Amino acid sequence: MRSYVTTPIYYVNAAPHIGHAHTSIMADILKRNRQAAGFETKMTTGCDEHGQKNQAAAIASGLSASDYLDMRSSEFRRLFDTLNVGYDFFVRTSRPFHMEQVALIEQRLMDAGLIVKKQYTGIYCAGCEQFKKPSDLDEHGRCPDHPTLIPEELDELNYFFKIEPFRQRLIDHVNDNPEFISPPSFRSQLLNMLSDPLEDLCISRPVRRVSLGVRLPFDDEYVTYVWFDALINYLTNLGWPKPGYELWWDTAEHLIGKDILKTHGVYWPIMLMALGEKPPKQLSVHGHWLGTGGLKMSKTLGNVVDPFEVVSLLGSDALRYYLARNMRSDSDSMISIELIRQTYNSELGNRIGNLFSRAGKFAKARFEDRIPARGDLTADDERVRLAALDAARGFAKPFEMYELPRVTQAVVTACDMLNNYFAEQAPWDLIKKPETAPRCATVIYVTLDALRLVLEGVRQIIPTAADKALATLGCPFEASVGTPWVPQLDRLPAGREMVEIESLFPRVDA
Ligand code: MSP
Repeated sequence: MRSYVTTPIYYVNAAPHIGHAHTSIMADILKRNRQAAGFETKMTTGCDEHGQKNQAAAIASGLSASDYLDMRSSEFRRLFDTLNVGYDFFVRTSRPFHMEQVALIEQRLMDAGLIVKKQYTGIYCAGCEQFKKPSDLDEHGRCPDHPTLIPEELDELNYFFKIEPFRQRLIDHVNDNPEFISPPSFRSQLLNMLSDPLEDLCISRPVRRVSLGVRLPFDDEYVTYVWFDALINYLTNLGWPKPGYELWWDTAEHLIGKDILKTHGVYWPIMLMALGEKPPKQLSVHGHWLGTGGLKMSKTLGNVVDPFEVVSLLGSDALRYYLARNMRSDSDSMISIELIRQTYNSELGNRIGNLFSRAGKFAKARFEDRIPARGDLTADDERVRLAALDAARGFAKPFEMYELPRVTQAVVTACDMLNNYFAEQAPWDLIKKPETAPRCATVIYVTLDALRLVLEGVRQIIPTAADKALATLGCPFEASVGTPWVPQLDRLPAGREMVEIESLFPRVDA
């Protein structure tokens, strides 16, 4: 079994922000999840380096375009490395192979009679890099996603891709493949976008206005429209059209924010159909992160969350956990450094980290540095073991991005039960009398074994801390292609010596 997960490729007109961190972290979590299920995986993320707004940023920087792109894309790469995002391929659309394929595709569509040249007058939002209909704009004539930009009126001779001939096929595809859009609530939004005839898609920009891009193979006065170019990365990352790509392509899951549903749900599948390729297997949509006050993050409001700052203050697991726990697909969610800090202290620190330290240190102090062997189990033991098994099982089968808050909640529930169990069983009292000492060994074993099981699952979200804890317990995580991980109880090696217990999530005060 294979899995190909992609993120959008990010514009490099500014430094990476939390929205970029979000989708790449989600893609990494899904990759780890598929790996645990024994899949062979490929995950890509990277940068969208062409188009009008990147060009404007390059000019403003005073650097040459290629130096600017190198500088910014290495900043994005550094962010993903810092966040433990295990991409298999880092996309840069300025790469020659990608650019060559974009031009070849255009030639194919031209030869197939699907591209026409005509005069067009329209309103363009440089923020979205898209033409807008008057009905897409707010009462002030601004784009709702980029209210600070004044949309430009353009009247140009350009090349257009005829997409209307494919509309009915796409509607049928959406209706016949319920898994095409995840979560399903976005299906009606997409069908709505397909309810009226589709205007031809403008796929060029005159070089005198935008020169950062792929020249049209049939007219070098023009460069390719940035979205047309960027979407093709999902194929070129696989070496398309060289044979072998289709093994991965059949499994493609594109993670996207809700603002780019039209480009991925309408333009991209139609481009693929025109090329004789299948639409991607799935589009998985997420909502946006809002800053303090529930407002869009902006420097003026001072509510921007810088992912690099979060990592240096709290570590990458803290950010990964916050995003996974609080992300929503059907709505937006709030984020601030303070909210991440609180979640880190209360859920990772108090629930997981403290229990691990207390039970681990107790075993070292009272059972000669070793994991004690357990005796017979009581109903209380069985209850917490079941909760841990249940939480771990949530991570053992492939899940979709929108299900992450649910699987994370099972971890919180299991850890709450384990903490209560540990307090109620009071191993520090049991150890005092010889007749209750064996029961103490069982309580410590049950606690550590249940924690181990939870960590084997939640390592998909917090790999750094979870792998450190599993190594301390002498149980490194194991799964490989074709050999899925199966959550099981009683895998903790009784009698094994434990190394020094380090704090997993040291408390951070405001
Ligand atoms: N370059 C295009 C994508 C091309 S993919 C073939 C683009 N780039 S972007 O940098 O503007 O945005 C990339 C992604 O970041 C989008 O999925 C968008 O939804 C996401 N986010 C931007 N701001 C966001 C938040 N505040 N919260 C969550 N995600 C957000 O669009």
